[in-house]
Order: sequence, then structure tokens, then C-alpha cells
Amino acid sequence: MGPSPPSRLFLGLTLFFTLTHATVTVYTPTQVVFTTAPAVSGTPAAYTGVAAYNPGTLSPPPLPSPTVLTNPIPINLLNSGTPGLGVKQKGSFLGFSIEMSVTNQVLGKNSTLLQVPFLNLMANIVQRAGSVMVRVGGNSQESAHLVAMGEILNGRVLSKNLTGVTGTTQTPPLDFTPDLLYMMRNISELVNVHWFLGIPWFTTTPFDLAIVPAATSILGPYLLGLQAGNEPDMYNLHGHRPATYGPYDYGGEINDFLTQLDANNSDPTGLGKSILVAPNIADFAWTPEQVWDTNLVDTYNANLAWLAVEKYPRDNCAAAFGGPGANVTDPQSVLPLYLTHDAHTELLAPYLNSTMYAQSKGKPFLMFETNTASCGGFLGISDSFTAALWGLDYALQMAHSNFSGAMFHLGGQNVFYNPFTSPPTNESTFHQWSVGSLYYSALVMAEAIGPSNTTQVLNYGVENLSSFTPIYGIYENGTPVRVAIMNYLDDPTGASDVTAVIAISGGTIPSSVQVKYLAASSVTQVGNYTWAGQTFGGFFESDGRPMGTENITTVNCDTTAQTCTIVVPAPGFALVFLNNQAQSVATAGGPVQTYATTAKTKVHNTATVDPSVLATSNGNKASDHDLAGTSKPPSAAPRAAEASFIAAGVVVATVVAVLARAF
Ligand SMILES: *[C@@H]1O[C@H](CO)[C@@H](O)[C@H](O)[C@H]1NC(C)=O
Ligand SMILES: *[C@@H]1O[C@H](CO)[C@@H](O)[C@H](O)[C@H]1NC(C)=O
Ligand SMILES: *[C@@H]1O[C@H](CO)[C@@H](O)[C@H](O)[C@H]1NC(C)=O
Ligand SMILES: *[C@@H]1O[C@H](CO)[C@@H](O)[C@H](O)[C@H]1NC(C)=O
Ligand SMILES: *[C@@H]1O[C@H](CO)[C@@H](O)[C@H](O)[C@H]1NC(C)=O
Ligand SMILES: *[C@@H]1O[C@H](CO)[C@@H](O)[C@H](O)[C@H]1NC(C)=O
Ligand SMILES: *[C@@H]1O[C@H](CO)[C@@H](O)[C@H](O)[C@H]1NC(C)=O
Ligand SMILES: *[C@@H]1O[C@H](CO)[C@@H](O)[C@H](O)[C@H]1NC(C)=O
Ligand SMILES: *[C@@H]1O[C@H](CO)[C@@H](O)[C@H](O)[C@H]1NC(C)=O
Ligand SMILES: *[C@@H]1O[C@H](CO)[C@@H](O)[C@H](O)[C@H]1NC(C)=O
Ligand SMILES: *[C@@H]1O[C@H](CO)[C@@H](O)[C@H](O)[C@H]1NC(C)=O
Ligand SMILES: *[C@@H]1O[C@H](CO)[C@@H](O)[C@H](O)[C@H]1NC(C)=O
Repeated sequence: MGPSPPSRLFLGLTLFFTLTHATVTVYTPTQVVFTTAPAVSGTPAAYTGVAAYNPGTLSPPPLPSPTVLTNPIPINLLNSGTPGLGVKQKGSFLGFSIEMSVTNQVLGKNSTLLQVPFLNLMANIVQRAGSVMVRVGGNSQESAHLVAMGEILNGRVLSKNLTGVTGTTQTPPLDFTPDLLYMMRNISELVNVHWFLGIPWFTTTPFDLAIVPAATSILGPYLLGLQAGNEPDMYNLHGHRPATYGPYDYGGEINDFLTQLDANNSDPTGLGKSILVAPNIADFAWTPEQVWDTNLVDTYNANLAWLAVEKYPRDNCAAAFGGPGANVTDPQSVLPLYLTHDAHTELLAPYLNSTMYAQSKGKPFLMFETNTASCGGFLGISDSFTAALWGLDYALQMAHSNFSGAMFHLGGQNVFYNPFTSPPTNESTFHQWSVGSLYYSALVMAEAIGPSNTTQVLNYGVENLSSFTPIYGIYENGTPVRVAIMNYLDDPTGASDVTAVIAISGGTIPSSVQVKYLAASSVTQVGNYTWAGQTFGGFFESDGRPMGTENITTVNCDTTAQTCTIVVPAPGFALVFLNNQAQSVATAGGPVQTYATTAKTKVHNTATVDPSVLATSNGNKASDHDLAGTSKPPSAAPRAAEASFIAAGVVVATVVAVLARAF
């Protein structure tokens, strides 16, 4: 990060809200304020920079020999009474973990300049799931210091102190203002984002408590949890605690924290001390059981709202920080480890005891921070279709394993694994965002689970099934409603396509089912994947809205044999909607919301704002206008743009909207 603040296009609107039955309806903007985007001459130079946009690819691994079962794979469902179903899941199962130090690149510049692509990306998930979980934290939370509003210059919300930066992840100490929290709150007022934040835990005598009263009062109902330390079992390794530091000491620190909170009257509402997340260990020096055995969960039963761990399957730290002589992992050599279901069963096996324990204590269990590999991920894996399949299988297997949620981490420009990345500062006027592989995983997962809050996920053990074709049943109120079928094999000949034959014992097979595919030509393709025919493009091509025409495939079933046969390409993923609710599940979480601003807008220097952007529908999609300006939405971008505001008592509200360029 350089010393100059990012410059980027931001959108806002000045709108009038009119009160209708405690739901505010926006009819038309009265004013659109924007500063002119700069003229961009010529074509931007080809990008030859940081990891986040490295176009390098790997070669798909060879097919397994001997061949594995692909045709036919029998999927025999029970219409009721399926044994082994685990905890009920929310559509928001898969969320995002944003390194605190990059929030000013991802969320917005400040509370009045929000990143429109971020709003759109979150709105896509909310539309399917009802809400989305975002954690702001990571290593940079541990020494984050809240300073007064205005103490950081130029309207910025955070500033890094690069003096004396050390350590593996080279995370600089952070200063942030309350406006970071106002920015988060403003986002939540537009799109139903719910947040986790971290308590700085490096120093305990005394704790820096300032984030507690600030976060609880500003975020209020949108604050899901406060993380009590990030990976405390690595504190000793990084020199933040003595070698003797163990799980009992960590529990003692929670006690100190709560004592100081009371002594300083830092949690006047009591919210902060009732939503702690612990122990957030990396399974590095301590096992979860060692923590449970300290009786932490019973001792702090009233304080702990979530139990959580953090785990990456491996690291790429040698490449990122290793220096000369480091044993850098060759991505090609580990690619096959990401193209097998075994990756997930092996990673999650050590946690199954803990997810049973968490259920016995009535606490949800989260994978608080994860991704393909720590220290930024791997070229050609973290940024390819491999990661999209891996992330989806991982999420489904976590749901099966009684986790209640997981968050994919994103960092800055120097990593391969971001679910989404804003363009570099100097390119933000002509480039859009880059949507990464794991965003597709999250979008599909939101749809696989849906917004009912009653969904259960079961990984099937089909006889002779290989680890290349995992299959899941998805249940609502105990009845199978969807089937998820993955094919990790890469075979353009079609010979390795999966042919799955679904039957429902005790039920009647419908005459047809709907199928949505997650597709790419190869596991090593970078960008441009499609979900039901729609894509977010390649690098720098997305404003956060899906592009292209939605393609839901209807498959006729054999009503005589009582089977539905589904073909899943190698590679690919299919979500089969047994009740033909593909359309409604995709929008059941809330109204379609989009926030328009396009590359065309920027390139042609004709900043345009959709007047319907913040229109609300009272749930019946009353507003459905075309874009008002000269810029076009992506061909299939929803034209309806709706947002619901609950603003009881408010008669007229104003949202100031600025389409600004540099700051
Ligand atoms: C933006 O900055 C990066 C890093 O300094 C550089 O590689 C890239 O070429 C710059 N882009 C433009 C369009 O100047
Ligand atoms: C998930 O929890 C249920 C009990 O709620 C249990 O029956 C099931 O075996 C658990 N699943 C796994 C994979 O541990
Ligand atoms: C966002 O937060 C600020 C506080 O800085 C507030 O004044 C403003 O009305 C909020 N809403 C928007 C849309 O900017
Ligand atoms: C956000 O940044 C803009 C541009 O620098 C500035 O005009 C505005 O006052 C800032 N807003 C806040 C709440 O600081
Ligand atoms: C930046 O960090 C250094 C080293 O930790 C410290 O001495 C200095 O006071 C910090 N500066 C600010 C402005 O916080
Ligand atoms: C909070 O209270 C403790 C005493 O329990 C005190 O030592 C500490 O300095 C206080 N912290 C703040 C931030 O005021
Ligand atoms: C499961 O966790 C409990 C609680 O920590 C522990 O007592 C038990 O030994 C663990 N079981 C296994 C098989 O690890
Ligand atoms: C790299 O691997 C070699 C051979 O296994 C080993 O001897 C060497 O210590 C390793 N280097 C580092 C920096 O870990
Ligand atoms: C699901 O749970 C959330 C709270 O976590 C709640 O807001 C929502 O209304 C619930 N949805 C349904 C369909 O019950
Ligand atoms: C599983 O494999 C065995 C040995 O090849 C074979 O006899 C059996 O029919 C297979 N079962 C299915 C369901 O394909
Ligand atoms: C994605 O597809 C578009 C349009 O077909 C193409 O221009 C772009 O180069 C592709 N991007 C990648 C990374 O393949
Ligand atoms: C829709 O998807 C199906 C299955 O992938 C494919 O066969 C068909 O060609 C697609 N239709 C369009 C119009 O893209």
C-alpha cells in the first residue's frame, strides 16, 4: 500500500423516501450528484503486475487410472426418514472474511462513498440467502487502534503504520476511525450484510476496548459477533506470548477482557459481552479438545455466541515471504490435492468431535477464516475453476459436518485467492472488479441452501463412488428438495461425464426437474465461469452483477422407471431442483437489488446513475424501470432495482450519492 489513498468510482444517490406501511418506497431521485470521471485516452496497457491478476494457468491433472465410476451413478433418495441429517443451515452459510487493512479498498472509501460492485456482489447473495455474513478482521485486527473521527486525513477511514513492520504476514499496525463502522452500517442499511469484528488481543494489560462500545452502538443489530483473538495458538510462534502460553491462559484472558469491559463501562448495552467468538485457533499448537477441556464453553456460556476455528489446507508462505533458499511449493504438484473430495473429509475429520461438542452446548460452530492456502494461495489453483469446485464441495461438506458457516478470506492485490478484488488504484477509472473463483462457490452455496433456515445437507456414500464425484442431498423439513453433483474430472472428450440416476423411495418422481450448472471448459480455466449461463467475466470485467442470460435446464424424467437422469460434464457441478423451484429459490431471500455503474460509464466518461437503484418494492417489485442514462447494463442484468428499508417513524430520508473519482 502506498501512502496515497485509493481513487475509485463510487456511487451514491440523492433520493427521497416516502413512508408506506413502515416500509419506505423510493419513487424517483431528485438529484444525482457526481463529479466528472476523468477522460481516459487510448487503451490501457496490458497489465503485468500483482498476483491478483496473474493470468498464468496450470495443466489439468491426468485422468485417474483405472477409470472411476461415472456412468451410471445411482442416487437413491428417501422421501422421508433419512438418517444422519445434521444441523439446520442458513443460506448465508458461506460468507467472506475481509482483512481489516483492505476494507478501504473493498467496502468503500468511507461512510459516504461505498463501493458499488461490493454492494452488488453482496446483493446477489442476499437475494438467494436472505443475508450475508462478512467478517472484518484477520491479522491486521490484532493491533488495530480506534482513533477519533477526522484524525486520519482526506476523509479516509484507516491508515497503516508501516514503521517497523515485521512478521510472516507482514501486517502493519492499523489506525481506523469510527467512520469505518459507519461505512459498514451504511452498507447494511442498503444490503442485508451482517458483520463479525475482531477485538485487538495482542495487548491485554490493558486491552484496547474501544472497538466494543463503538461497534455495538454503530452496528447494533447487524453485529453478529466479536472475535476474541485471532489464532491465539500461533501467538507464541510470532512472539506475542511466552512459550508457556496455553489454552488455560487464553481462557484467563477472556476473563480479564470481561472484567476490564465492566470496570471501564465499555459495554453499556451488554451486547458486546454476549456475542464473543472463540477460540479461533488455527489448529497449530492446540487442538480444539485442549481448549474444550479447560471448560471454557461452560465458564463463558453467557458470553460465547459462536465457537470457531480457522484452517487452511496448506500454505504458500515460502513463495510469498520465504526469501532465498525457501522451498517454494510448485502449484502444479499440489493441483490434484484440490480436485478430490478427500481433501475435505481429511481437513474436517479433526473437527467432527468438536461440531458434536458444539451441538451439545447449543453453540454454532464456524470455520471463521479459510481459503485454498494461507499466505495468498497458489497461482493456477486459487484463481481457477479448481477453486470454485473445491470451495463449493468444501462448503457442502462443512454443512454436512455440522459447521454452521464458513468465511473465505480475501486480502489485497498480492494474493491469488480473493473471492473478489477491486482494481488497483491507478486503474480504477477504466477497470472494473475481478470476481474470483470462490465468489462463485458462495453464490451457488447460497442457492443450494436457500433462505428457509430448515435446510440440511447430507453427503452420500454411494457404493463404489470415487472421490472425484461427490454427491449431496439437500433437505428441507426432512424432505429432499435438491441434489448437488460435482465432477472434478477434466475430460473434454465427454467420456468422463457423470450420468447420475436419481430415484426417490417413498415419493413420486416429478415429470421433469430443473438443473443449474456451474461450468467452465477446464479445471484450470481462469475466470469466465458460468453459473446457469451467467458470468462475472474475467479480470477487471465485473460491476458485481451477473452478465448474460440465465439458462436453467429442464430435464425430463422417466415416469415409468421413476428416475431422473442428470449429466454433469467433466469438469462441472449441477444443482438439481427436484421441486422445480429453481427460479423462486434464486430470489427467495429478498428482492433483486442492483446498483448500477458500468465500465462503459467510465470509459465513455458519461457517468450515469440508475434512478431506480435504491427503489423499494414493498415486496411486490413495484418499481421496474429501465436504466435512465446512456450506459447499458450487462445484457441480462436485472432491470428491476429494489431495496427494502425499514424506517419506521422516518418520513423522508436522504441518501447522498456521489459518483466521485479521485480522493
Ligand atoms: C498501475 O500501477 C502498477 C504498479 O505500479 C503498474 O504495474 C501498472 O502498469 C500501472 N497501470 C497503469 C495503467 O499505469
Ligand atoms: C451431525 O450431527 C448429527 C446430530 O445432530 C449427527 O447425527 C451426525 O452424525 C453429524 N454428522 C457428522 C458428519 O458428524
Ligand atoms: C452514512 O453514514 C453517515 C455518517 O457518516 C451518515 O451521515 C449518512 O447519512 C449515512 N448514509 C449514507 C447513505 O451515506
Ligand atoms: C468521504 O470522502 C470524500 C472524498 O474525499 C469526502 O468528501 C467526504 O467528506 C468523506 N466522508 C466522510 C464521512 O468523511
Ligand atoms: C508507528 O509505529 C511505530 C513503531 O511501532 C511507533 O513508534 C509509532 O508511534 C507509530 N506511529 C503512529 C502514528 O501511530
Ligand atoms: C480498563 O480498566 C482497567 C482496570 O480494570 C484499567 O487498568 C484499564 O486502563 C482500563 N482501560 C481503559 C481503556 O480505560
Ligand atoms: C471429543 O471432545 C471431548 C471434549 O473435549 C473430549 O472429552 C473427547 O475425548 C473427544 N473425543 C475424541 C474422540 O477426540
Ligand atoms: C528445503 O528442503 C531441503 C530438503 O528437504 C531442506 O534440507 C532445507 O532445510 C529446506 N529449506 C528450508 C528453508 O526449509
Ligand atoms: C432465518 O433466520 C434469520 C435470522 O437468523 C431470520 O431473520 C429470517 O427471517 C429467517 N427466515 C425464515 C424463512 O424463517
Ligand atoms: C461396485 O464394484 C464391484 C466390484 O467392481 C461390482 O461388483 C459392483 O457391482 C459395483 N457396484 C455398483 C453399484 O456399481
Ligand atoms: C472472458 O471472456 C471474455 C469475452 O468472451 C474475453 O474477452 C476475456 O478475455 C475472457 N477472460 C478470460 C480471463 O479468459
Ligand atoms: C443451456 O445449458 C445447457 C446445459 O449446459 C446447454 O446444453 C445449452 O446449450 C445451454 N443453452 C444456451 C442457450 O446456452
